[in-house]
Amino acid sequence: MNPRSTPEQCEAWAPTDYDVAQWNERFRRIQPFVAELDGQPVAYADLQANGYIDHFFVSAAHARRGIGQQLMHHILELAAQREVSRMQAHVSLSAEPFFASNGFRVVVRQTVTVRGVPLDNALMERMQAECFTR
Ligand SMILES: CC(C)(COP(=O)(O)OP(=O)(O)OC[C@H]1O[C@@H](n2cnc3c(N)ncnc32)[C@H](O)[C@@H]1OP(=O)(O)O)[C@@H](O)C(=O)NCCC(=O)NCCS
Repeated sequence: MNPRSTPEQCEAWAPTDYDVAQWNERFRRIQPFVAELDGQPVAYADLQANGYIDHFFVSAAHARRGIGQQLMHHILELAAQREVSRMQAHVSLSAEPFFASNGFRVVVRQTVTVRGVPLDNALMERMQAECFTR
């Protein structure tokens, strides 16, 4: 989340009272890669067959330690192996610089309403062919 996000926006994006069964089902669907530190999960991210990154998250307590970058390297390598031509993700404002530093560009900015609360994000994409020829 954006550090300037309001408490309402944080609660809408990551509700404290969440549906465990729904999250279990979501994880089964997206099949994420999980980064662990001392046996504890600290980050996770997925890569769908069409190149879409549905979730990319590093625990706030473990931010800016290079964990997100390691996870991104793994996903970028996988995308290259799978010959995915275009990767996309809906990225929060606070995560934009991280995705930009990994070759993603903003396609369109949007405001989505989650649980009645407006949240800003951007659709970002990375064209693999361009990155290979750099
Ligand atoms: C964005 C996010 C994935 C970054 O993960 P991280 O583990 O903290 O990132 P890293 O430590 O690997 O950072 C690597 C580089 O990315 C850039 N970067 C990361 N977070 C940044 C930020 N908030 N602002 C500016 N640059 C950032 C920096 O260049 C950083 O290198 P540095 O620390 O040497 O300056 C993480 O903060 C996060 O999960 N945010 C919330 C969830 C989210 O919005 N997900 C996005 C799409 S679903």
